[in-house]
Amino acid sequence: MRNITLFKSGNHRFMLLNESEPGEEDGIRSNQYLIVHDDSAVLLDPGGFGVMPRVLAEMLRHTGPDKLKAIMLSHQDPDIVGGISTWLELTQAPVYVSRIWMRFLPHYGIKAMDRFHGVPDEGMACSISPGFDLQLVPAHFLHSEGQINVYDPASKVLFTGDIGAAMMPTDEDEAFVDDFAAHLPYIEGFHRRYMVANRAARIWVDAVSELDVAILAPQHGPVYRGQAVKDFLAWFRELECGVDLMTGSGTFRKG
Ligand SMILES: [Fe+2]
Ligand SMILES: [Fe+2]
Repeated sequence: MRNITLFKSGNHRFMLLNESEPGEEDGIRSNQYLIVHDDSAVLLDPGGFGVMPRVLAEMLRHTGPDKLKAIMLSHQDPDIVGGISTWLELTQAPVYVSRIWMRFLPHYGIKAMDRFHGVPDEGMACSISPGFDLQLVPAHFLHSEGQINVYDPASKVLFTGDIGAAMMPTDEDEAFVDDFAAHLPYIEGFHRRYMVANRAARIWVDAVSELDVAILAPQHGPVYRGQAVKDFLAWFRELECGVDLMTGSGTFRKG
C-alpha cells in the first residue's frame, strides 16, 4: 500500500504514505501517515531506520521536509522511532512523544533532546498552524505505558498507533477494513497478548467514543472505516487481554 488518500477536502489532506519494512522478511510491516494543511505538514510514526528513505520519497510527492511542522511518535518502539535521528537532520520539526519515554530516546542515536516535547499523561491540544489543530489523545497501556493517539478533527481520522494493528499475510494488500468479522483473525492474537488489560481498553474506548471518528488508522495493517470503526471499538471494549489472561509465570488463558 502506497500513498493512499484517506481524506481530502480543500486545503486539508490525510494520507497513508507508505506501508513497509524492507530487508527483514519477518519484520512487521508498518504504516506511516502524513497530514497536510496548506503549507504545513505533520508526520505520524515515521518508522524504523530501514523504511526512512522510502517514506521520504513518498512524502516528497506532497511536501518538502522544510514544511514539516511536527513529528508525532505514538510510543517508543523501534518500528516508530528507529529512523528519527535522520529525520531530525532533514527537518526543523519538533517531535512529540509521551513524557515518560523522553529519557529513553537518546539511545536511538539522538544527540540533543531540545526538539522533543514531552506530552503529559492527560494528552494535549497541538496547534500546528492557523486552522490546523490536532489533539494528542491518551491511550496508555495500549500497548505502551506511555502511548498517544492523534486526532485530526478536520478529517475525523484517529491515528491509533498499535491499537487496531493487524498482522496481515504478506500477499494481502487491502487498504481498508470494511468487514470487521472477516478481519478479526488478523488482530485477535496481537491484541490479546500485547494490550495490557481490559481496564485500559475500556477507558480508551469510552474516551474516544466522545470524538467524531470516521476513520481509525493504526500503525500496522489496513485502516478501519464506516461500520468497522464501531465494530472494532465494541469488540475492544470487551476484550480480555494481557494481565487479565495471566494464569501463572509465563502462562496465559486462551480467552
Ligand atoms: Fe508497539
Ligand atoms: Fe507498532
